[in-house]
Amino acid sequence: MKPIGVFYATREGHTHKLAERVADDLRKRGFEADVKNLRDQDAINLSDYAGAILAASVHTGTHEPEMVAFVKQHRAELESMPSAFLSVTLSEVGAERANATAEEHARFVADVQGMLNRFFEDTGLAPAARQAGGRRAALYQLPHPLRDAAHRQKGRSGDGYLARL
Ligand SMILES: Cc1cc2nc3c(=O)[nH]c(=O)nc-3n(C[C@H](O)[C@H](O)[C@H](O)COP(=O)(O)O)c2cc1C
Repeated sequence: MKPIGVFYATREGHTHKLAERVADDLRKRGFEADVKNLRDQDAINLSDYAGAILAASVHTGTHEPEMVAFVKQHRAELESMPSAFLSVTLSEVGAERANATAEEHARFVADVQGMLNRFFEDTGLAPAARQAGGRRAALYQLPHPLRDAAHRQKGRSGDGYLARL
């Protein structure tokens, strides 16, 4: 079987750590996984991969530009292969905060949704259509290093998201 590509875009390095963690989890499940930084200039040929996991962080409301450019360029291929998108944001951490008030929670959830909506508008990706098409595409709302750490403190693995791949 071809490897699964874990393609990431980061500014401060958290999403790189997350991508490596996802790749390790995939390997534990018997897959081959290649981790690639979209900032590197290596050409990526998606036909070399059995699936693609895209991970990008957000700064001032938008996902990293190299991820937006990559998805725009490869949208048709991504929509015809198993793929997932991990959006790494502090708003997601806020949305999962157990002690957030109802008002805070609603604000974080709206922030997360707004950033995802912008990403889908900018790239033209249509996750609902992909899912309706019966492909094993899944849209993840992100594991985040901070959240994973919180899960670990509570004795949870924080990697249940992979079960959906
Ligand atoms: C200058 C700056 C702007 C940010 N803007 C947002 C934002 O608009 N929404 C959000 O939820 N998180 C925001 N964050 C938090 C980052 O998304 C978060 O720290 C993420 O883990 C960074 O991942 P990276 O290290 O892979 O770039 C911002 C962080 C910085 C430093």
